Amino acid sequence: MAHRWENNLIQADVTPEPLWLNRRKVIGGALCAGVLGSIANPAMAQALEPNSWEDITNYNNYYEFGTNKEDPAANAHRLNTADWVIEVNGMVEEPGLYSVADLIEGLTEEERIYRFRCVEAWAMVVPWNGFELKDILDKVGVQSDAKYVAFETALRPDEMPGVRYNVLDWPYREGLRLDEALHPLTMMATGIYGKPIPNQNGAPIRLVVPWKYGFKSIKSIVRITLTDKEPPTSWSTSNSREYGFYSNVNPAVNHPRWSQATERKIGGGLFNRRHPTLMFNGYENEVANLYDGMNLKKFF
Ligand code: MTE
Repeated sequence: MAHRWENNLIQADVTPEPLWLNRRKVIGGALCAGVLGSIANPAMAQALEPNSWEDITNYNNYYEFGTNKEDPAANAHRLNTADWVIEVNGMVEEPGLYSVADLIEGLTEEERIYRFRCVEAWAMVVPWNGFELKDILDKVGVQSDAKYVAFETALRPDEMPGVRYNVLDWPYREGLRLDEALHPLTMMATGIYGKPIPNQNGAPIRLVVPWKYGFKSIKSIVRITLTDKEPPTSWSTSNSREYGFYSNVNPAVNHPRWSQATERKIGGGLFNRRHPTLMFNGYENEVANLYDGMNLKKFF
């Protein structure tokens, strides 16, 4: 039942899109006391100003559609996302072919406003809609000897003009350690700003790991494999010196060709200053314990 406030406004008057807002979980990062403590804290809504829809959907990296920032928006309409099937295999109780609807059935859709930091040193803030990856993995049942999750993007030369070029080792592949994949911040996004996720952003379903460089957040996923070995990834296969498996955002570990100490916010205007890069992209309180005792310069 709608809550009636003393001044006679009912909740629906204040929140015209109650589903969208009721489910809003704003994860701001550094200010948060802990993952769950940070959720649904209205004060956090002020802390992060999302980028515009135009910024988020016109300045993209999706090399299957070209390597320029505007190529995905121009070309990704060619990707046919109808009847999308995701194969789940490896060390799972229920391997098989799943539709997106199968994978998310019964799960709670949330909105999460996350910082997003590309390894190229630009940054955005994106209001994602989606699901915790953990809930999806619980559904298929991870076997106890699994240690990693590998992901693969569709490879469709007829629809993806960029895969003619050997800029990466296709299909685009990524991976996470199992504890990273099960972390409550890790999500599978199916929307942005409450609308279905556009093709250039990874329709119909993509990974979002907000404390890692954006290339870990693999788009348009067709395969999820549970394994006990660290899976090869497209970027580390093509250049292991520049792109490691972990790729946690870290201002103290520079890319061999540029500094990671600062970042530029997309949409920041003409006089946009560079801002300091935050450790784990601002999610240090939530995720630093995943890497206790690890040398983050060695495992970059
Ligand atoms: N996934 C696939 N399949 N292909 C890609 O080229 N680019 C990655 C990542 N996921 C990429 C991908 C990189 S480098 C970044 S920064 C983000 O997607 C960009 O996501 P966005 O376009 O939604 O901002």
